[in-house]
Amino acid sequence: MPVLPATDETIASAAQALAAGGLVAFPTETVYGLGADAREASAVGKIFAAKERPQFNPLIVHVPDLETAESLAEFGTEARALAAAFWPGPLTIVAPKRPEGGIADLVTAGLGTVALRVPAHPVARALLEKARLPIAAPSANRSGRISPTEAGHVAAELGEVPDIILDGGPCARGLESTVVRVVGDTPTLLRLGAVPRAEIEAVLGHTIDLAAQDAPIASPGQLERHYAPQTPVRLNATTIAPGEALLAFGPDIPDGADTTINLSPAGDLTEAATRLFAAMRTLDESGARAIAVMPIPEEGLGEAINDRLRRAAKAR
Ligand code: TXA
Ligand code: MG
Repeated sequence: MPVLPATDETIASAAQALAAGGLVAFPTETVYGLGADAREASAVGKIFAAKERPQFNPLIVHVPDLETAESLAEFGTEARALAAAFWPGPLTIVAPKRPEGGIADLVTAGLGTVALRVPAHPVARALLEKARLPIAAPSANRSGRISPTEAGHVAAELGEVPDIILDGGPCARGLESTVVRVVGDTPTLLRLGAVPRAEIEAVLGHTIDLAAQDAPIASPGQLERHYAPQTPVRLNATTIAPGEALLAFGPDIPDGADTTINLSPAGDLTEAATRLFAAMRTLDESGARAIAVMPIPEEGLGEAINDRLRRAAKAR
C-alpha cells in the first residue's frame, strides 16, 4: 500500500477502512501506530499477525477524550489528575476495565485492566473524530524492532499490511508514551517514555516507582526483546573501535567512526529523543560492525532514552 499524505480525504478513507475491520497506520506525536477497531477481535487479530507479536502482549486503546476513556475504564482521583495534566499527549493510563465498554479481550490480553491514551497529533485526532471508534494501536513495527517515527519506516517494515499508511511527517516526540498503571492506591510506572518521571511526580505530589521489569504487573511488552537493531550496540562508548558507527550526543565527540549521527550537538535531550529511533535505523543500515553509543545523561528524558538503548544493547 502506498503511503498517502494525510488529508481530509485520506483520513476519511482511513476511517472507513477501520470501520470495515481493516488496519490503518497513522502518526501520533510519539511514534506511528498500527490501528484497528478495538471492539472487533477479528480486526485486532490482524495486528498481532502483522507484527508477529506474542498474543499475551496487550495493546494501547486510543480515544478522543477523557469522557470516552472513562466509559472504558474506571478512573480514580489520581488517574483523572494525570489525564487532566497530560491529555491530549504522550501518557498512557492503565486502569480497571469496564466490561460494558466493549473492548475486545484480545486487546487487553484477558487482563482486568485496559491501557488508554488520548493522542495529541492532529492526524490521530482527526482519525479518531472521523472513525468514532476506539482505536487499538501498538507501534507500527514488527515485534521487537525499533518503533517507526516516519511513514517511510512503516512502509519499509510492514509495507503490504495496512490498508492505508497516513503520512503526517516525522513524529515530534520520537519516544513512545510513558505508561502509568493507576489501580488501587499506588500508581506505578510501567514504561518510561515521552513524559519524564519528574513531571508525573509533580502532578501526583509524590514519587512514583518503576515496576520491576520482570514483575507480572509490568507492561508485558517490556519482557520481550525490544528496540533491537540487527547490529550489535555498545553503550557508554568514549572511543571508537575499527568498523564501528557512532551514535553521538553533545559537542565533544570521539574521532574514527565511518558513520556518525549526533542526536544533539547542543546536548539537548528533547532533540535527542526525537531523533533516536530514526538514527538507530540509519546506523543499523550503514553496514557497521557495531554501533557505539556515547553516554547520555540519566536525567529528564535521558532516563527513557537510556532505557531504550539498554534494551537495544541487550537484544543479542
Ligand atoms: O506511544 C505509544 O504508546 C505508541 C503509540 C502508537 O500510541 N504505542 C505503543 O504501543 O508504544 P505498544 O503496543 O508498542 O506498547 C504498549 C505498551 C506495552 O508495553 C504493553 O505491554 C503495555 O503498553 N500495556 C498495554 N495494555 C496494558 C495493560 N492492560 N497492563 C499493562 N501494560 C499494558
Ligand atoms: Mg512497541
